[in-house]
Amino acid sequence: MKKFRVGIIGLGTVGSGVVECFRKNGALFASRYGFEYDVTKVAVRNLDSKRLVEVDRSIMTTNPEDVVNADDVDIVLELMGGQEPARTLVLKALNNGKAVITANKALIAESGPELFAAAEANGTRIFFEASVAGGIPIIKSLQEGLSSNGIESIHGILNGTCNFILSCMEAGTSYTDALADAQRLGYAEADPTLDVGGGDAGHKAAILASLAFGQWFTSDMVSVRGIDELDLVDIEFARDAGYRIKLIANILKTEDDKVSIDVQPTLVPQASMIGSVMDVYNGIKILGNTVGDTFFYGQGAGKDATSSAVVTDVIDASQAIASGMIKDFSGFKAFEGASGPAELSAVVSRFYLRVVVEDSPKVLSTITGILGDHNISIASITQKESHEKSVPVVILTHDVLTKELEAALSNLDSLPVVLEKPRTYRLEDFD
Ligand code: HSE
Repeated sequence: MKKFRVGIIGLGTVGSGVVECFRKNGALFASRYGFEYDVTKVAVRNLDSKRLVEVDRSIMTTNPEDVVNADDVDIVLELMGGQEPARTLVLKALNNGKAVITANKALIAESGPELFAAAEANGTRIFFEASVAGGIPIIKSLQEGLSSNGIESIHGILNGTCNFILSCMEAGTSYTDALADAQRLGYAEADPTLDVGGGDAGHKAAILASLAFGQWFTSDMVSVRGIDELDLVDIEFARDAGYRIKLIANILKTEDDKVSIDVQPTLVPQASMIGSVMDVYNGIKILGNTVGDTFFYGQGAGKDATSSAVVTDVIDASQAIASGMIKDFSGFKAFEGASGPAELSAVVSRFYLRVVVEDSPKVLSTITGILGDHNISIASITQKESHEKSVPVVILTHDVLTKELEAALSNLDSLPVVLEKPRTYRLEDFD
């Protein structure tokens, strides 16, 4: 029986889930793959912290260098998150010829090319399935399962915390209570502003776009808006019109062969597949030029979903080491899939628009006049009777060039009868 020695950096929610998975499925792995796993080193911040799993104290250290430099570690699991010292530790592990598994999307999105080059130079590989969409094998699907396809578009709910918060808010829980629950359940990042501000989904979108289109897209090429700017009233207006607001990552190939990548709150039909994804689940719709539409669904965050992806990578690493193929693929290979990043202003989409206006004559015609001047066609307009001096007007548009919408918003915002900065969100009529 071939034995692999595993070193883990970080024994928080995900690290604990990984240890539990090896204990639960060790006999299955031995029988199914002929591999035995021994966790030989674990780096933690504090030896005395309360933990979700018991680990023999003799293999614990507070120095992560002990893991990446250990002679008795074949596969290093980086589960600490963040940029530094994670980047330096992963580079050291790769330079020591070890296979590396990471769940760290910020690290892969920002430093991917540097890490893949280090892996290639040392005849090893970095695996990162857990970095996007938790337990959904989306990296493997793009790299292997859909390899016969040119990818046309990817739309996804990629942040479990945001989807959990939005689901709770629809059911009447406040934003603050929902975020606290997501943190308690181990869904949120150490810094939850990365979740609610859209940065986490932005990192994941950049990784998916890179794999789909064969060139490395960094986070600064992703236009990001989070759910922290949402008002409950927008969730209610969307619901009344048959939609639900989700934080959607949109990765689209434009007509000039460029790739537009954005993350933003988006209205989607309640009955659509993506609109039915609730709680901590993620859902990803990929359009391939051979297969057509595909949809991937599963838990996007939390102990079990993420450790499932990490341990699957450990098994893949073991198979690659055992067969000698580990040196053949560093984790990413560039190809000619697109000709660079596109401007978001070139994207055509429907939009939701909420304008709070003075409730007086000619206001509505002024607003619709400005939209008309920018070639924006109105699909519906809603104004409920108000007993105040102000009233929200909600407009759903037909397809609009984003650049035209931005110009119209700027004109609207400068009108004295417009009392608040207009709110606008993308609207997608997914099936
Ligand atoms: N904070 C992330 C989420 C964890 O909520 O999706 C998984 O990447």
